[in-house]
Amino acid sequence: MDNNYSKIIKMALEARKNSYSPYSGFKVGACLKDIYGNLYAGCNIENAAYSPSNCAERTAFFKAVSEGIKEFECIAIAGGTAEVKDYCPPCGVCRQVMMEFCNPETFKIILVKTEDTYREVLLKDLLPEGFGRLNLE
Ligand code: THU
Repeated sequence: MDNNYSKIIKMALEARKNSYSPYSGFKVGACLKDIYGNLYAGCNIENAAYSPSNCAERTAFFKAVSEGIKEFECIAIAGGTAEVKDYCPPCGVCRQVMMEFCNPETFKIILVKTEDTYREVLLKDLLPEGFGRLNLE
């Protein structure tokens, strides 16, 4: 089936294959779309010292921001051990990074099980009353 999110879902599932996760064995892939339609894929990258590990979502965001892009439309996320069995909601730290660059009222998070099985949620629903740049004004 082809859907609106077909491409980013495929790219998130593909990025998941690059996951470097020897410690948790939990492989995550993400694909972020900017307002111009450009796509940035990312995977989780773990580390023997644990805390330097980076989630797939942040890998995608940091790739885009480091290329000068700061306006985004949506992100697709797929995670699981050997296979993706369930939806993988973004961790709290990644939600906060999304809050930095995205409008919580409109930024869409696509939770992916398979190419045809996904759920769409808004950042405002995953991070209610989030603290962001506007709070500092
Ligand atoms: N992880 C992600 O990459 N994204 C998420 O949304 C949840 C968790 C990673 C972090 C760690 O490498 C592994 O999954 C297990 O927590």
